[in-house]
Formats: sequence, structure tokens, C-alpha cells
Amino acid sequence: MTPGWLLRPGSVAVVLAMAFAVPGAQSDGWTIGRDAADLTNPLPLTTERLARGAELYRTHCQRCHGRTGRGNGPDADPDDPPRDLTDPRRAVRNPDGVLFYKIWYGRRNPRMPAFRTEMSPDDVWTVVHYVKSLRETAGSRQ
Ligand code: HEC
Repeated sequence: MTPGWLLRPGSVAVVLAMAFAVPGAQSDGWTIGRDAADLTNPLPLTTERLARGAELYRTHCQRCHGRTGRGNGPDADPDDPPRDLTDPRRAVRNPDGVLFYKIWYGRRNPRMPAFRTEMSPDDVWTVVHYVKSLRETAGSRQ
């Protein structure tokens, strides 16, 4: 008998993602670890953590992603800009673990640097909190 959860489309997508996204494999241009779907941010969200995340974002990310995350930073490629980080519709494709790997390994084309040489895993998880906060406030801006 087939377990009920296997028949739900969402579960199948997760199972497929886990089967194909082996570490080091490319997924849509990204390198996403096979455990991405199961990872949750190990760092508690606090006001201090969010402030530190904002600081890391300003230092490392803003030049491409823009001050508010819309992809309009001065170093963004105008022909192929980074996606809008505030778009709540991207949330489902970018759970915590996927965000972590995207930032950790970066991608080649369009290019985003890999931050594993500049940031500790804790720094990356901290900026993950901040990136998600940009998303949550999208509706309240402008
Ligand atoms: C040199 C420019 C550049 C820098 C610096 C940069 N990014 Fe990116 N980022 C990109 C590009 C290009 C993409 C790919 C856009 C795409 O997939 O369509 C991207 C994609 C992303 C995505 C995936 C968005 C999605 O919806 O799939 C996240 C999350 C992200 N960046 C976070 C960060 C964070 C956090 C930092 C800083 C630690 C950072 N980026 C620094 C250029 C940059």
C-alpha cells in the first residue's frame, strides 16, 4: 500500500529534490546540499541577531541585491539582475536550507560569489534570518 503522504504533490517534489540534489550537484545553476529541505536555521531569531544580519547584508550583499533586496544594487547586472528577495512567492522555493546553500556556494551564471570563504556558517545563518525578514515586510513597503 502506498503511504498517503507519497501521493501529495508537495511531498513528491520534496522526495525528488532530495534524490537529485546531491552535494556538489548543480540544481538550476546552484549547488544545493541534499539535506537542504530538512535544514532549519539553528540560530534563534533575536533583535540583536537581526541587526547583525542587516550589517552583514550591507557589507556583503547590498551592492548587488540593493538596500531593500529588490535586486537593484549598483553592482547588479542590469541585463540579468538578481531576483527580488522581497517577493513572498519565492519563499516556497527558498526554505532555510536552500537559502543557506545558495549563499554558501554562490553560483556562476548569473554570478553570485560563494561566501563560504568570507563568512562562517553562523554568519550565513544570521544573514538568512535577515533575508527572510526582507521578504516578510514586502507587503508593508511602498
Ligand atoms: C555580485 C553580486 C551579488 C552579491 C554580492 C550577492 N548576490 Fe545574491 N544573487 C546574485 C545573483 C546574480 C543571483 C541569481 C539570480 C537568479 O537566480 O535569477 C543571486 C541570488 C540570490 C538568492 C536567491 C534568490 C532566489 O529567489 O532564488 C539569494 C537568497 C541571495 N542571492 C542572497 C544573497 C546574500 C544573502 C548575499 C550576501 C551574503 C548575496 N546574495 C550577495 C548576485 C549577488
